[in-house]
Amino acid sequence: MYHESVLLHESIDLLGVTPGGIYVDATFGGGGHSRLILERLGDEGELYSFDQDEDAQQNAAVEPFTASANFHFVASNFRFLKRQLRAESIRSGKVQGILADLGVSSYQLDTAERGFSYRFDADLDMRMNRAEGDTAADLLNSQSAAELQRILSDFGEVRNAKSLAQAIVQGRMQKPFKTTGDLCELCDRLYIGGDRMRYRSQVFQALRMEVNDELGALEDFLKDALEMLAPGGRLAVITFHSLEDRMVKNFMKTGNIQGEADKDFYGNISRPWELMTKKPIEPSDNELNQNNRARSSKLRVARKN
Ligand SMILES: C[S@@+](CC[C@H](N)C(=O)[O-])C[C@H]1O[C@@H](n2cnc3c(N)ncnc32)[C@H](O)[C@@H]1O
Repeated sequence: MYHESVLLHESIDLLGVTPGGIYVDATFGGGGHSRLILERLGDEGELYSFDQDEDAQQNAAVEPFTASANFHFVASNFRFLKRQLRAESIRSGKVQGILADLGVSSYQLDTAERGFSYRFDADLDMRMNRAEGDTAADLLNSQSAAELQRILSDFGEVRNAKSLAQAIVQGRMQKPFKTTGDLCELCDRLYIGGDRMRYRSQVFQALRMEVNDELGALEDFLKDALEMLAPGGRLAVITFHSLEDRMVKNFMKTGNIQGEADKDFYGNISRPWELMTKKPIEPSDNELNQNNRARSSKLRVARKN
């Protein structure tokens, strides 16, 4: 299976799909969420599904997507949401619902040559879009120790980020990093107690977030989503990382990712959103029993004022 959808019914129920509306699935992946949106849309309305990974596009080449005139696959990073929708002649303020299910798919994690996983030995790539940008190996072979430390510490909460960053810089002088195995070897030398696999996982996650500029893309996406939604339109975001969740939480509270109240000339606080989930929705025990990868997921939904 390409990917098992997380919080599927919870997210689509709260998106409140109404026939005739324009909807966006920013992260098509295996198409699970898109399928349910399309089912609820019926023959009216439009669904635009984005994915920056060309492997995901093959999942749109099957029914019901091929049979549906109101389904459109957009091969793009979702950070260009506004630009891409405008190219489809959709103006700001016209979209009824936008969903994003962040991170990587099971397919990406389980396909050795994509280089996302420490479980296989393969080229250290980690780009969701293999047509552009630096790979994780490029990053390890070029960044300063200070920059590597920031990445490891901020995105992976790696406790000895400084020592690991220094070891990377020393290691690459002997032999440049090329494979996931090269990185695993170093991780296993540097890990400081606890679970060895957890340490590897923290390091891999940090690099993946940097390679794909995941937080930068999320910030651009959130701003565009606010602009493209109609009043009353809904934004649903599923996150898997505390930094992403904090950004989404702040944005839904104040309209900016810092979470700073924005006041007008008269001191009135602007409230661009009404929260539909006071607390984030997490997967049920039943879902967790069936899909371990749902474990750190959190769903937040807001309605545009
Ligand atoms: C967790 S999966 C989505 C799974 C999907 N909801 C399903 O039910 O099958 C995330 C997908 O989003 C894509 N993705 C992640 N960040 C992206 C971005 N900035 N722009 C476009 N696609 C992105 C990944 O390539 C991946 O296919």
